[in-house]
Amino acid sequence: MPLASESVRLSPTVSYRQQADIAVLWLDNPPVNGLGDTTRAGIHAGLKRAIEDESVVGIVVAGSGKVFCGGADIRQFNTPAATAWPLSRDVQQLIEASRKPVVAAIHGVALGGGLELALGCHYRVVAHDARLGLPEVNIGLVPGGGGTQRLPRLVGVERALDMIQSGAPVTGKAAVRIGLADAATEGAEETRDAGEVVALAVEFCRQAVISSSAHPLVAAREVQGSSVDFDARLASVSRKSRNAAAQRACILCVKAATQLSFGDGLAFERARFDELVAGSESQSLRHIFFAEREAPKFSDGKGATLRDIHRVAVLGAGTMGVGITMSFVNAGIPVTLVEREQAALDRGMAWIRRNYDVTASKGKLTPAQIEERIALIAPSLEFDALADADLVIEAVFEDMAVKQEIFERLDKVCKPAAILATNTSRLNVDVIAASTQRPGDVIGLHFFSPANVMKLLEVVRGKASSLDVIATCLAIAQRIQKVPVLVGVCEGFVGNRMLTPYWREAGFLLEEGASPQQVDRALSAFGMAMGPLTMADLAGMDINWATRKRLAPTRPAHLRYSRVADRICEKGRFGQKTNGGYYRYEPGSRTPIPDPVIDELIAACAREAGIVRRTISDEEIVERCMLALINEGAHILEAGIAQRASDIDVVYVHGYGFPAWRGGPMFYAETLGLDKVLARIRALRDEHGAHWEPAPFLGRIVSSGARTFDRKN
Ligand code: NAI
Repeated sequence: MPLASESVRLSPTVSYRQQADIAVLWLDNPPVNGLGDTTRAGIHAGLKRAIEDESVVGIVVAGSGKVFCGGADIRQFNTPAATAWPLSRDVQQLIEASRKPVVAAIHGVALGGGLELALGCHYRVVAHDARLGLPEVNIGLVPGGGGTQRLPRLVGVERALDMIQSGAPVTGKAAVRIGLADAATEGAEETRDAGEVVALAVEFCRQAVISSSAHPLVAAREVQGSSVDFDARLASVSRKSRNAAAQRACILCVKAATQLSFGDGLAFERARFDELVAGSESQSLRHIFFAEREAPKFSDGKGATLRDIHRVAVLGAGTMGVGITMSFVNAGIPVTLVEREQAALDRGMAWIRRNYDVTASKGKLTPAQIEERIALIAPSLEFDALADADLVIEAVFEDMAVKQEIFERLDKVCKPAAILATNTSRLNVDVIAASTQRPGDVIGLHFFSPANVMKLLEVVRGKASSLDVIATCLAIAQRIQKVPVLVGVCEGFVGNRMLTPYWREAGFLLEEGASPQQVDRALSAFGMAMGPLTMADLAGMDINWATRKRLAPTRPAHLRYSRVADRICEKGRFGQKTNGGYYRYEPGSRTPIPDPVIDELIAACAREAGIVRRTISDEEIVERCMLALINEGAHILEAGIAQRASDIDVVYVHGYGFPAWRGGPMFYAETLGLDKVLARIRALRDEHGAHWEPAPFLGRIVSSGARTFDRKN
């Protein structure tokens, strides 16, 4: 008997190698050994071969590279490959019929279909730091390969339900503790490949052959009685959750495991999976899942040498400076925080500590970790303290003259090759860059408030920004766990630029007869995290007022203009911070209270504009506000301000509370049908005027017969 045979390829993504009397099937489908059609076929062929080969007594399934298996190949969903024989259940049936033990050797991750494959095996041997979970719910699905039926049989109903409904993984160590795995590697070292766990699994497999002739099947176990109140669980799923339908289906599947036979439970699970995978919630969540991964890609920057970022400096310890500083130190990157006044610096540092204390009070940080993070911050009043930073982020007042002066000084003080970034939310990055002798090193990094929480980062590419600066910023953004989107220079970049027509339409609807609360209620019911007027009150109406005043000279006279927002600001009402905006607020409270003063102000604006107010439906509110976003998004694509329509979706989902389960405004437009969207925009133009002129790009896409913005199919 050979000690180790040559490796044999059984499919493009699976190979077979015999280690003495144990066959090892290696999944080899980078990057995560996804269970696409060829991988399933390879595993099936390998199992058959090993079962039939008399020199083999047991089988180990393992993953090449960094992980065991990241799950199904999501890109194959809704394609023929997803349903090509053999399915996961065929693989599991073969394992369950095998008299030779089959052991999953798990390192890195066993997620989704990967864990389901392992659950179909007789035994699971894991690396201590592996992560095992069923995250399907995050993309709007239930596990579709028996996970909801097998996991409760192995770890109990309650624990299985928690794992399946939340999608949260457990570590290898924890997996042994809860009965999900049979053995784990020792040690505290990070596992880099399958070597150790496969050696352990091979040994485990041999022992199993010696000690038992009947190997345990998860499917044959009884589901232990549970005290889970499934109805209460169902009722507690928030309607606002991005994946509410999937969460409910997960609960029903686990409930089915407690009531139906294993086979009927599998059929129940499969039916839920099939419904969800074809439904709009999951399609939208899958779109956003891919869009997030696509957004940091920047083909012009391929091959660019990234600049080293060891130390960051943040200028200004206000709202944004504080959050930006925390984002970097949370990732272990030291920050020099520079202010011009001691009081502002002290306030900023105290704010940071308070934020960390709140996190600690939720049990998410220890006092020692807080001190470690704060020790990474070097507060300073000296501008020269910026000199040794590799990346400087300016977050001072939104005033062009102030920013220009600061960048002139940065140019003199900062070391060569430092990246000079501005966090401006609307100012022209090219003009800021021009105040330095090194515009190629200047870029916009537009964080969102609160910057330590919000995942979105608009990376604003100036016309002179060099490719390595852009590529470095996209990479550092990911290092600090942000979702970066590359955007070009224009008024408001992508996110805020689209807000302008969105808010404008909300203002028109107010004049035409809606109340602030009706507008907000309609858009919240659509799924927005908050309505546009509540959002304006939260963001501060003064900022947009200043922008409108700045842009007033360039506003075309023939376009309709609502004075509602200006009139509110003229009363000194800027939103929550002045206890009044579109709504009024009790001191210290963030709860918007409808205000008759504002109703009267809106009615007066309508009278002046000669508008006869009427009853407005919620549908009209949603349609007009959404089409305003979509049309501006199409203008943005046409101008090349965003690389892809899906980038705009990422901006809106991560920065503006757009419901992920609708996929973002551009994906939503595609689900409505771009031809229908264009027809409605044209109808609105005929009814309401030239501000509804459709983006020429949208017209061209529709005439080309394409159904999506990015892929011209
Ligand atoms: P802020 O008023 O809270 O903070 C600005 C800080 O900069 C103050 O602490 C001030 O003392 C300090 N500062 C001013 N001049 C300075 C100088 N020469 N040297 C050092 N420190 C100086 O302002 P906030 O809200 O943090 O905004 C900062 C920038 O971020 C602005 O450009 C703003 O447009 C942008 N931004 C703001 C967002 C928000 O929601 N607040 C969102 C995204 C961007």
